[in-house]
Amino acid sequence: MSINTVYTQPFSDQKPGTSGLRKQVTVFQQFHYLENFIQSIFDSLDNYQGQTLVVGGDGRFYNRHAIQVILKMAAANGFGKVLVGQNGILSTPAVSCVIRQNKAYGGIVLSASHNPGGPDGDFGIKYNIGNGGPAPEKVTEAIYARSKEIDVYRITEADDVNLDQLGTSQLGEMTVEVIDSVQDYAQLMESLFDFDRIRQLLTSGGFSLIVDSMHAVTGPYAHALFADRLGAGADSVMNGKPLEDFGGGHPDPNLVYAHELVEQLFGDNAPNFGAASDGDGDRNMILGQRFFVTPSDSLAILTANAKLVPGYQNGLAGVARSMPTSQAVDRVAAKLGFDCYETPTGWKFFGNLLDADKATLCGEESFGTGSNHVREKDGLWAVLFWLNILAVRQQSVESIVKEHWQEYGRNYYSRHDYEAVDSEKANTLMANLRGKLAKLKGQKLGQYEVDYADDFSYTDPVDGSVSQKQGVRIGFTDGSRIVFRLSGTGTQGATLRVYLESYEPDVSKQGLDPQDALAPLITLADEVAQIRTLTGRDEPTVIT
Ligand code: G6P
Ligand code: ZN
Repeated sequence: MSINTVYTQPFSDQKPGTSGLRKQVTVFQQFHYLENFIQSIFDSLDNYQGQTLVVGGDGRFYNRHAIQVILKMAAANGFGKVLVGQNGILSTPAVSCVIRQNKAYGGIVLSASHNPGGPDGDFGIKYNIGNGGPAPEKVTEAIYARSKEIDVYRITEADDVNLDQLGTSQLGEMTVEVIDSVQDYAQLMESLFDFDRIRQLLTSGGFSLIVDSMHAVTGPYAHALFADRLGAGADSVMNGKPLEDFGGGHPDPNLVYAHELVEQLFGDNAPNFGAASDGDGDRNMILGQRFFVTPSDSLAILTANAKLVPGYQNGLAGVARSMPTSQAVDRVAAKLGFDCYETPTGWKFFGNLLDADKATLCGEESFGTGSNHVREKDGLWAVLFWLNILAVRQQSVESIVKEHWQEYGRNYYSRHDYEAVDSEKANTLMANLRGKLAKLKGQKLGQYEVDYADDFSYTDPVDGSVSQKQGVRIGFTDGSRIVFRLSGTGTQGATLRVYLESYEPDVSKQGLDPQDALAPLITLADEVAQIRTLTGRDEPTVIT
């Protein structure tokens, strides 16, 4: 088997975003584009010769091709072994789990998460380090720097590896092992949750659930967990077959895109519990009967109830949330007496806190929740955590959430997204806002008084690294907040995200629709940032 050295030219746009390099499939299909980025990853790593790499993806279009290229390049670059999921399938949390269990050097996740797939959809590549988590910024910056200079890559000339058959084969000097995509992950879940108790609930006849895999990666995992191990029956999983284009859908588990599930949970004869996960299985949405749990509330409630779950029965070291996530979990941490860390958007920022045992649970408003069991957020883990709580408390989702609000107060919360805005206009909007910050402090804006106004900057408490310009925050004296930032995961133009939050301790006022409760802040956000004028948009594209 020969190794080819191929001369190439750099591309200028291979800068990893919030979560790896994400582009339209057609961009990846440019000659050498994929190979350049993979070689840039390898060139940025040290001492990986003879080591093990984990590779898998969410099954979207281009997954299989990319895996074959990565295998041949890993062999040419001297990796000793690659563990690859059967059929090329590994959910993002499963990659993290497999890296950790096998003490692998690192892993490559092929996914554009919740973005649509197919030949006209998106594709993505993310590098994870040996702790199982996304590479920190210093690594992604090195990869980007390398991608701008690269002039050669190495690839083995060989037949494609059969990804459908479990077992090992050789690619030159390197061993390729096709592994069961589900097994390690399912075992880890069994070690954390009380499966017997959840099984009793699900087979009691008095409880029904539906898990929507949105034709994406969690299908096989959900079948193995809910149908096989927990006895909920095959009907408990909908859209359970992974498809290369996700059946034409947008695999993002929120009220807008998971509407098929939402209709069932809000319809007649609604099941007791519903959940959905995204393209690569790291996001989750939790629904009760005619009831939606915001991701921020979900994090707070899992934190408050963690001791009911075997894997967390000894309590939590601390919690962490991304800056735009609501402050509901802060209140739980304060009451239970542990730290709550506030990080920039992006799961990679939780890695150090988890490794240093400063945080046990973490979460983001963007439908992500997880813990120190892996180093990615984990959609099905969150579903199992909820089911474990429900099995112990024997209450409905709605009553658990409402009792939580009674005890801690309710943080009304909503995110307004303006997608595919002209990048220049979006940058102008953010620049204008930044220019106003110094003047805002102490000002009265309508019924609100500005307590602080800044551009969020984060100093990692473990390694001291600083991340600046992570989003504009305007906080008011009554605890309300408006946060503005540009998404780091979009692939077309810019996406402006406006996060709105207010706090309501009075139980008699906790039953409002969040859009009504937040209406004055919504108006204010437009006034301060001139959203309509500058973007030319009358309303958000998506409200969650
Ligand atoms: C991905 C990341 C999350 C992040 C989310 C939204 O799912 O893993 O950490 O919160 O994208 O990021 P964005 O930059 O688009 O707001
Ligand atoms: Zn995802």
